[in-house]
Amino acid sequence: MKRSCMKMIILCLLAALCTCMLTACGDQDAGTVVPDEKKIVVVGFSQVGAESDWRNANTRSMTQALSEENGFRLIFEDAQNKQERQITAIRNFIQMNVDYIVLAPTTETGWETVLGEAKAAGIPVIIVDRLINVSDSSLYTCWVGSDFWKEGRAAVRWMEEQFVDRPLRIVHLQGNLGCSAQKGRTGALTEAMQAHPDWQIVYQGPGDFLQAKGQEIIEDLLSRGIEFDVIYSENDNMAFGAIEALNGAGLVPGEDVIIVSFDGCHRALEMVQSGAISFVAECNPLHGPRIMNIINTLESGIMPPKQTYVDEKTFDREHITREMLDERDSEYPTSSGCGIPSASSLPLF
Ligand code: AHR
Repeated sequence: MKRSCMKMIILCLLAALCTCMLTACGDQDAGTVVPDEKKIVVVGFSQVGAESDWRNANTRSMTQALSEENGFRLIFEDAQNKQERQITAIRNFIQMNVDYIVLAPTTETGWETVLGEAKAAGIPVIIVDRLINVSDSSLYTCWVGSDFWKEGRAAVRWMEEQFVDRPLRIVHLQGNLGCSAQKGRTGALTEAMQAHPDWQIVYQGPGDFLQAKGQEIIEDLLSRGIEFDVIYSENDNMAFGAIEALNGAGLVPGEDVIIVSFDGCHRALEMVQSGAISFVAECNPLHGPRIMNIINTLESGIMPPKQTYVDEKTFDREHITREMLDERDSEYPTSSGCGIPSASSLPLF
């Protein structure tokens, strides 16, 4: 073959190779090579606030899962425990025309109007953690969260087993009134009170899931000479506050007063092991990967289940082990709830 012919063939091959490479890199538009852009999914997330360790762990889980590297742009709004702020945030998300709205509701009722606006705008709404109470279930796409009644019933069952036929004076620290975490946990205790005429609630009131309020309430009761055997605290942070108050009064939590709590953050489980808290019903906050999966499922054109309850455990001093603590990160479990099977699990009581 002549040298000039050979040169021509090589040039043609090179040109063909370049064309292939450019096509593989992206679309060609009027001669310009545009790199392939994966769709970024824009999510507006209205969070309750930052009232507890649980809530902070939940926020971390959501921001880590709905990250840029996972293909999301997250617009995060902290409602500071106010429903009006959540309604405003949702309206802003609608104005921004986000792809999805995720709502962790402060309370169960009062969502019809604003969720109707989201529906009219064609934006799917995913509810996380607590439930909402709406007459038209088409106002939200799906929900994932905890069975708060089941948590409450597990706590009550533990009390029944521990204090067989013993009269009990109970202090009941409630969460924010009207949210499903409070309603389920309170409902389970109310139900048990009817079955146990020898149990007496000496105080019942909202501590709003806040450590400072838990401490304030117990300090006030002690200063008024009110005596009690059990504190049924609807979350860990109020239990921490109660422990501060008991210690301040020279009482030994776990001996002079039994504490039953909800959530199961690492600090609370350390206290179960040391005996300061006697029982914890887990409430798992690691919803980020679940929401990511729900959105990815919707993006692929498949409708996820309308409601998904997460698996949760219970912990008491008799059964807790160092390994159970070690398998949780400094704040919350790494094992349960993220789809990673747990090495050790306690049976539900
Ligand atoms: O809705 C979950 C509850 O909200 C948690 O139990 C509590 O700690 C939080 O603030």
